[in-house]
Amino acid sequence: MEKETKTGNREQFGSKLGFILAAAGSAVGLGNIWKFPYLAGSNGGGAFVLVYLLCVVVIGFSLMLMEMALGRNTQLSTMGAYRKLDKRFTFIGVIGVVAAFLIVGYYPVVGGWSVAYFFKTLIGELSTSNPETLGGIFGALVSGTWAPIFWTVVYMALNVIIVIGGIQKGIEKASKVMMPALFIVLLILAVRSVTLPGAGEGLKFLFAPDWSKLSGQVMLAAMGQAFFSLSLGMGCIITYASYLGKKENLVSNSLNIPAIDTLVAILSGVVIIPAAVSFGFEVTQGPGLVFVTVPAIFATMGPVIGRIFGLMFFLLVALAALTSSISLLEVVVAFFIDEIGFNRKKAVATSSTIGIIMCIAASLSMGAWSNITLFGMNIFDFFDYVASYICLPLGGMFVSIFVGWFWGKKNAYDEVTNEGTIKFALFDVWFFLCKWVIPIGILFVFLSGVGII
Ligand code: PFF
Repeated sequence: MEKETKTGNREQFGSKLGFILAAAGSAVGLGNIWKFPYLAGSNGGGAFVLVYLLCVVVIGFSLMLMEMALGRNTQLSTMGAYRKLDKRFTFIGVIGVVAAFLIVGYYPVVGGWSVAYFFKTLIGELSTSNPETLGGIFGALVSGTWAPIFWTVVYMALNVIIVIGGIQKGIEKASKVMMPALFIVLLILAVRSVTLPGAGEGLKFLFAPDWSKLSGQVMLAAMGQAFFSLSLGMGCIITYASYLGKKENLVSNSLNIPAIDTLVAILSGVVIIPAAVSFGFEVTQGPGLVFVTVPAIFATMGPVIGRIFGLMFFLLVALAALTSSISLLEVVVAFFIDEIGFNRKKAVATSSTIGIIMCIAASLSMGAWSNITLFGMNIFDFFDYVASYICLPLGGMFVSIFVGWFWGKKNAYDEVTNEGTIKFALFDVWFFLCKWVIPIGILFVFLSGVGII
């Protein structure tokens, strides 16, 4: 974000591109490259992917526009925004802050793995396509005690350095180069992956839905993943949009960002799943899928080219993760500044300390503490489950109830069309979705996912 223009005393994005980069930076991250492929793998492939796409189209775009409208209208971060518009809805902000805390409590662990893998590639530890060797390397890293904590701390330190400087100017500028680079690397890997022997089976698994695999749990996994990947339901987009000028076109922004995000997720799926099938990796293995499959693809590209691509890949993944986790941290930091009255430094110090403690617990829960379970899950999975499958969907449901039923049509119209100056032919459809389809849809999927209906 740049500080070129000022309205009142609130900084604004210096350019339209600044906001798109920040919001797309928040959206595109580990959710796309690490989580989407392994969730698709463990939830039956095509049926999951189709429900995911349906959620993006029906819920994602609309909710993105709602959050943008609320943020820009109030020029406040999430809790303040609701307090200003209707005090009774401040609890939506609380749900978002809880989600942000939980995600900050494990996301940097995976960020740390990516940094570790950059170095592992550098020293040549990963130059093999043998499933046992690669699985062993990943298993040893995540179940270790000090190594994953060390990498998590390194990753968290990078976040702190960026967030403490205030609004994140430099990193967003960097993402102007980084995002297209990530996209190109993924594209090249996708070509490599789909031309491996037997890759067709993987493509079929990913895109041809086997409806017998569809269950309430799979639907909730897909919906929760759509929220997670688009950074929706926790006020992150509200906070970013609060820095947005009154002239910006919210409608087009709310289309671009989900489109970019979804493209990256699908592309990552096309990189990982066909290659995993071709090499004989278990696609249902969960969080390790990317970390074992991708090095195997590099190994087939030859020692030099493979190593160069490997380094580029893990560097870009770590950077994509950074632009997401700084947005998460920003929600927590904004909470300490706006609600508790901390200055920025103290807010960042407090948030990151809490984050690190949670991350240590999450990391140990895959090794030394794996016997500790909460509702049958280890700590890492528990944080993820509560955030992605409970807080984000419910947060999103309440946002749409608030916009559709309380903020109302007139306020929403004025904000999304910049007081009628921007054409938005589908306004009525959008508002109908906000008022009826989205809240009912989310409630239905949520209840069937947790086994109530
Ligand atoms: N969207 C990010 C990803 O896909 O990696 C994760 C995330 C960032 C979730 C910010 C929620 C959020 F508010």
